[in-house]
Amino acid sequence: MGKLDGKIAIVTGAGSGMGKATAELFAKEGATVIASDINSDRLADFKNDHIIPFASNVADEKEVQAMIDKAKELGHLDILVNNAGIMDNFKTVDHLDDETWNRVLGVNLNGPFYTCRAAVKVMKEQPAGGVILNIASIGGLFGGCGGCAYTVSKHGLIGLTKNIAAVYGYNGKIRTNAISPGGVATNIMDTISEIDQEGVKPQQRLGENLPIGTSEDIAQAALFMVSDESKFVNGAVLTADGGLTDL
Ligand SMILES: NC(=O)c1ccc[n+]([C@@H]2O[C@H](COP(=O)([O-])OP(=O)(O)OC[C@H]3O[C@@H](n4cnc5c(N)ncnc54)[C@H](O)[C@@H]3O)[C@@H](O)[C@H]2O)c1
Repeated sequence: MGKLDGKIAIVTGAGSGMGKATAELFAKEGATVIASDINSDRLADFKNDHIIPFASNVADEKEVQAMIDKAKELGHLDILVNNAGIMDNFKTVDHLDDETWNRVLGVNLNGPFYTCRAAVKVMKEQPAGGVILNIASIGGLFGGCGGCAYTVSKHGLIGLTKNIAAVYGYNGKIRTNAISPGGVATNIMDTISEIDQEGVKPQQRLGENLPIGTSEDIAQAALFMVSDESKFVNGAVLTADGGLTDL
């Protein structure tokens, strides 16, 4: 028996890294997973009957609605994992251009806002409610773990998490939590070009012997956060960084 038997889940950014590992683990645990990504080529790799590839851009509200409608078509929406995210080249506030700000906030914060708004409307009408998990970052907990736009977006995502948790979680109807990963080996560095060295704090410049996790490490934490094993956990932010932020 799987931990997610019969559940229908959406995982955004599922074409790579932690999203891919999460979609695969959820399917292994019995869920039907709508694996969404802006990059449809990456979704072509899935060869699992329980994973439904769904190309969509989280920064586009219409595409988000189509993704939510897909879950409704399947019968219900039990789990939403907002995982899609991009980085910002560590740009400091004084070096930050409007295009980077809007692009990063568009994907990392507007995206989860659109998905949560649409998902909550569905989940609150379901007898079994639902679970939302937002993949934030240690950049959402501290000021010096990313550039300005990334830091703002991930702090905002944690605020979104806590507000939904407070409003819809008090009766256990919709649980909403976040995970703040530290360094994890994925393809996210491909979204970085020309790092703004002024925006990288000295500890990161050293860059040696820092704990680096795997996508599967985060997927296991995600499984706990969406399964009934964490049914009394709501409004929490689980740091999964191998102790990086305590160094
Ligand atoms: N890798 C790390 O060290 C790290 C650390 C902390 C937090 N995070 C967060 O974890 C999440 C997953 O990152 P990852 O490291 O697995 O990255 P990744 O780049 O390997 O995967 C992210 C996926 O999101 C997709 N994506 C990007 N923009 C999208 C959009 N607009 N709509 C839909 N999909 C989109 C990409 O195509 C990609 O397949 C992100 O939110 C990231 O900010 C990553």
